[in-house]
Amino acid sequence: MPSARAPAAFTHDLHARVLSWYGVHQRDLPWRRVGRSPWGVLVSEVMLQQTPVARVLPVWESWMTAWPTPTDLAAASPGEAIRAWGRLGYPRRALRLHATATAIRDDHAGEVPSQEATLRTLPGIGDYTAAAVAAFAFGHRTTVVDTNVRRVQARAVTGRALPAPTLRRAEVDLAASLLPADRADAALWNVAVMELGALVCTARSPRCPQCPVADLCRWRRAGSPVDDGPPRRVQTWAGTDRQCRGVMVQVLREADDPVHAETLHSGWTDRAQSERCLDSLVADGLLEPLTDDYFSLPTCPSTGAGSATVGRSR
Ligand code: ADE
Repeated sequence: MPSARAPAAFTHDLHARVLSWYGVHQRDLPWRRVGRSPWGVLVSEVMLQQTPVARVLPVWESWMTAWPTPTDLAAASPGEAIRAWGRLGYPRRALRLHATATAIRDDHAGEVPSQEATLRTLPGIGDYTAAAVAAFAFGHRTTVVDTNVRRVQARAVTGRALPAPTLRRAEVDLAASLLPADRADAALWNVAVMELGALVCTARSPRCPQCPVADLCRWRRAGSPVDDGPPRRVQTWAGTDRQCRGVMVQVLREADDPVHAETLHSGWTDRAQSERCLDSLVADGLLEPLTDDYFSLPTCPSTGAGSATVGRSR
């Protein structure tokens, strides 16, 4: 396997090609525009975890209209945040954003902190989000490694079809060694590699003829070997607890008044599963139990273990 550090000439070429490709092909996304706020960047990064750009765009727009600053969101109830989350999925992210907004209002005078270490202290902000906000909102020279970056690196530099199922230290070290020395180039490099992974170096059908580094790519030079890692887990949806929980949260999103437990259970055939899911939604702080078996979206910040204390999920 090639060493963790790529030769300087290779890295130099990689930078020039990827940065110039990005200059032409980058998508015009609102959280990348000049003048967007650090808060807008932070919200986009949380929404974009596990969710495609096309689905995030309308929710991000309406969210930023409703709550243009962390203080605005902190003044809303967590239930309003869950309602505005719409069908983005993994609604615990809405609760974490609400907790983050509250911490920013209470502990940082309403301003998103610029330092990565401080960002990491915010509820629900993990290594990735802290690095992404520091880089994209504040232009810091830091390493941002998401699934797209990992795939581009695995192919172009390490010569493998896909990265390991979970992030390895060696990948972070490699990404750090590839970061351009110049601060402005570094900030652009992070988003450019991400974009290359999203648009060209895709997981299933990479568009190699359109790739600016196709002739440098070690995976292609090795004949594009198939992945020899462990079989990938295909995420199922139908029949899962995640789907059952989603159905219940959606009922409450659409309701003006509290909803009875029987109504929540009526949308699901497996009663034992829906009982379990209802309990877990309450434990996560996504549903608030009222009297007489009625439930609502949460009106007060949750004490549920799943809300503010859980780290980043990818
Ligand atoms: N631009 C900045 N961060 C991004 C992300 N996580 N996904 C897509 N585009 C982005």
